[in-house]
Amino acid sequence: MKIIKVNNYDELSEKAAEIIAEAVKKNPSTTLGLATGSSPLGTYNKLIDMCKFGKVDFSKVHTVNLDEYVGLEPTHDQSYRYFMNTNLFDHINIDKNNTFVPSGIAPDMEAECKRYDGVIEKNSPISVQLLGIGENGHIGFNEPADYFPEGTHVVDLTDSTIEANKRFFGSKDEVPKKAITMGLGSIMKAETALLIACGKQKVHAIDMLVNGKVDPKCPASILQNHKNAIIIVDNDAAAKI
Ligand code: GLP
Repeated sequence: MKIIKVNNYDELSEKAAEIIAEAVKKNPSTTLGLATGSSPLGTYNKLIDMCKFGKVDFSKVHTVNLDEYVGLEPTHDQSYRYFMNTNLFDHINIDKNNTFVPSGIAPDMEAECKRYDGVIEKNSPISVQLLGIGENGHIGFNEPADYFPEGTHVVDLTDSTIEANKRFFGSKDEVPKKAITMGLGSIMKAETALLIACGKQKVHAIDMLVNGKVDPKCPASILQNHKNAIIIVDNDAAAKI
């Protein structure tokens, strides 16, 4: 794992955006793995600016997202499809037909998991998989478990994740209790896994990821075995590494 320590969120976003833009310049029809949450917002803003100034062209790029809440329509303002449209896709020259987010409202979620694995396969390889990290060490919505799930699956969100994400909803009760997420096998196949973390609330997760053993109780720890994992952390999140 390569660890890059930065002084602040702006630097973190700049570095992450540069790595993503480089992958697109190298292969204009590359597939990017994208993430939601507050951490990637700065990165997306930088990419939007680069695109506006003609420094990066997304017209042929494909994207696959990590996850979605089960039960939320794509038009719901807390769905991850809505997040991606409003925070990135609406502002860059990407063809939305080439952007993929798992469905949280498929009538048969097991079939949706299989379908999404097919989408990932068809769009592989993922050049850069962007990742945030949950306070409990989750990536995507791969929550702490007894094993590392390979493929796309439906998960019960842990109480700590529901608690952490309630800030985006009216109340804790409104946070969906289940999600569909890309599995760790697919994340591990990405050519580069790029994890970004900032703030004191991520100290423990980053400590487990970097200093702990590879253990499904901290799903992100699997990145210790990734061939090219890059972790960008600000000083606060890096307090124990
Ligand atoms: C959610 C997402 C994760 C994200 C995590 C951290 O649970 N499913 O992909 O990494 O939140 O979010 P934030 O960046 O807002 O701290």
